[in-house]
Amino acid sequence: MSNGGLSGKPQNSSSGSGDDIPAALRDTPDVAGKSHLKLPVIIIGGIAGFLLIAAVSGFIFFITAQKKDANQQAVSTDTTAATSSPSLNPGDTQAKANGSLLGHLPYPEVPETELASISPDGRFRMRKAAAEQFLTMQQAARSAGVNLAPISAFRSVKEQEQLFFQVGAQRNQTPAERAALSAPPGYSEHHTGFALDIGDGNVPATNLSENFEKTKAYQWLAQNAAKYRFELSFPRDNPQGVSYEPWHWRFVGDTQSLETFYKAKNVKPVKTP
Ligand code: DAL
Ligand code: ZN
Repeated sequence: MSNGGLSGKPQNSSSGSGDDIPAALRDTPDVAGKSHLKLPVIIIGGIAGFLLIAAVSGFIFFITAQKKDANQQAVSTDTTAATSSPSLNPGDTQAKANGSLLGHLPYPEVPETELASISPDGRFRMRKAAAEQFLTMQQAARSAGVNLAPISAFRSVKEQEQLFFQVGAQRNQTPAERAALSAPPGYSEHHTGFALDIGDGNVPATNLSENFEKTKAYQWLAQNAAKYRFELSFPRDNPQGVSYEPWHWRFVGDTQSLETFYKAKNVKPVKTP
């Protein structure tokens, strides 16, 4: 639009009143007959006129080129914005592919027959392979003077429902606020029987709190859990956006657990601190 205005100006000038054309040039046709009278004036006037036209043309060309360049840049920015906007939130696409809900991934509930107890009273249960490894790990920690105390292990979808909605209502939390701390029913690693929450039996006040990371239990886990094929599920700044949970560990020591947590989810393993 503005280009049309600019390129129209010289046309108007030459075909219009002629106010923009130097008098020296407008007089040129008449000059032929009087050239013997004012030759130096005509030559100087001609050169000056020529230079002026060249300068005006150059200026118009420069402005037009600038506008064109600016337009091209704007289009390219628009294109970049349009084509790159989906990748502004790369998690969105991934989250859709994973069928995630509020940052949590869906997990099937393990059949009861696959569970084994990890506590004398049978309150806490895990999948057999995970239970066995946890007990071995707990014994090793005990030998080092560290008390790894299970706080929660397998949870059914029904139990998670209560935890998510009822506790959320008691605390006046929106689903998004609640999801930072607790997975929606059907989306908790606890359903799989591979995950458990661990406290320091000697410092129960730190249970389910970030302060757990200051305990001997956490320090020991950070150093040794991988040996027993456990890893932290939600380290700080985890890609799922779940709050940091230094107490929540998962077993990743067999094909079934690896498939549960990694297969077709494109979730990169996060190193336990
Ligand atoms: N606290 C974790 C996210 C869960 O509820 O599964
Ligand atoms: Zn947990």
